[in-house]
Amino acid sequence: MWENIQPAPPDSILGLTEEFKKDRNPGKVNLGVGVYKDNNGRTPILGAVKKAEQQLLARETTKSYLPISGDPAYGRAVQKLVLGEDSDAFASSRAVTVHAPGGTGALKVGADLLKRFKPQARVWVSSPTWANHNGIFGDAGFELDRYSYYNPESKGLDFDRMLDDLGRAPAGDIVVLHACCHNPSGVDLNQSQWDEVVRVADKQGWIPFLDFAYQGFGDGVGEDRYAVERFAASGMDFLVASSFSKNFGLYNERTGALTIICPGVVEAKVAMSHVKTVIRTNYSNPPAHGGLVATIILEDSGLYQEWLAELADMRERIKNVRRTLVKGLADCGVPGDFSFIERQRGMFSFSGLSDEVVKWLRAEKSIYVVGGGRINLAGLTTDNLDYVCSSIAEAIKAVP
Ligand code: LMR
Repeated sequence: MWENIQPAPPDSILGLTEEFKKDRNPGKVNLGVGVYKDNNGRTPILGAVKKAEQQLLARETTKSYLPISGDPAYGRAVQKLVLGEDSDAFASSRAVTVHAPGGTGALKVGADLLKRFKPQARVWVSSPTWANHNGIFGDAGFELDRYSYYNPESKGLDFDRMLDDLGRAPAGDIVVLHACCHNPSGVDLNQSQWDEVVRVADKQGWIPFLDFAYQGFGDGVGEDRYAVERFAASGMDFLVASSFSKNFGLYNERTGALTIICPGVVEAKVAMSHVKTVIRTNYSNPPAHGGLVATIILEDSGLYQEWLAELADMRERIKNVRRTLVKGLADCGVPGDFSFIERQRGMFSFSGLSDEVVKWLRAEKSIYVVGGGRINLAGLTTDNLDYVCSSIAEAIKAVP
C-alpha cells in the first residue's frame, strides 16, 4: 500500500536529533532539540527524581491501570504548581487536571476536546511558534491563523501588533499563548502586557490555551506562572498544557498535564467527563511512572526544596551561557549587536542566524541548529563554545 506514497519529511526538531546521532564528526554539537544539558553535555537525572524513584520502587505494589484522568493526587499536585496554592481556581475546584503523555499529549488532548465543541473555531498561534503547534492543531482538524509576536528588527516583542491581531480574533476562536519562555524566540511578555492580553481575551471572548512547558526556566516557578494566575483570576474559561519534561528532566517518561479552568465547579465536572472520553479513545489512560515520581517530589517538602534548587541551577547555567555566548561572538568578531540574547528567557535563543547559515553550520561544522535560527543554549559548554562562536564567524563570512 505504500508503493505510490511519498515519504513524509523528517520532523524539524526531533528529525535533527536523528541526523545528529548519525553524524560521525567527533566535534559535533547539538543545539537543536529543547533538552537541558549540563556543562559536560549530559542530560542528568535530577537528584530529587532519583530519590523519589527509590521511594517509589520500595512502596509500589501494583502496575494496574491508572484512572483515565491519571492519579488524582497528581492532578492536585499539578494544580498547586501550575495555578499556585493560593489560587481560587484550585481551592474552589473549578479546575480539573488530567495526566497526559507529555506537554505534546496535553496539547493534543485539549485540541481534540475543543474540536468537539468548537468545530468551526480557528486556532491562532504566535508568529513564529513551536513548529509542532501547527501539526497538533492542524491534525485535530483546525484551520490556523497567526498573530504577530516577534519583531526581527528589534529582536523583541511586537506588542502593539500582537494586541491588534488578538483584538481581531473573534469569540469562540482559540488562541495559543506561551505562558513563559516563548519557544522558539525566548521573548516574553512582561506583567502589564499579560494584563492587557487578559483584558482583550475577556472583551473578545476567545479561548486562551496556554502552553506552559518551561515553568521555572524564566525567573522561577512562582514568577513564571503570572499569566496563568491572571487568566485564572479573570474567571474565564481557559486551558493549560503543562509538562515535567524540562523542569523535572522527565523527558522520556512523558509526564504532562492538561488543566481546564472553568468559571464554576459544575462546568469543570462536565469538562472532565468529556476529556475522559477523548483520552479513552486515544490511549485509554496515562503511563504511571513519571506522574508518580513528580507527585512524590511535589508532596514532600524536602524533595520539593531539593528540586527547586536543582531547577535554579539549570536556569542559572543557561543565563550564564547567554552571557558567555554574547561575549564569545564579540571576541570572534561576529558583526552585530548580540546583546538581545541576554534579554531572552528560557532554554532558547532566536539567534538571528539565517537558514543559509544554519545549513552551512550543519554541513561544514556538524553544528545542529533548528531552521529559523533557534539555538538551545543548554547545548553550549565550555568545551564547545569557542568552536561554535568561531564557526558562526566563519559561516557569516562564507554565506552571502
Ligand atoms: C523543543 O521545542 O525542542 C522541545 O519542545 C522538544 C520537542 O518535542 O520539540
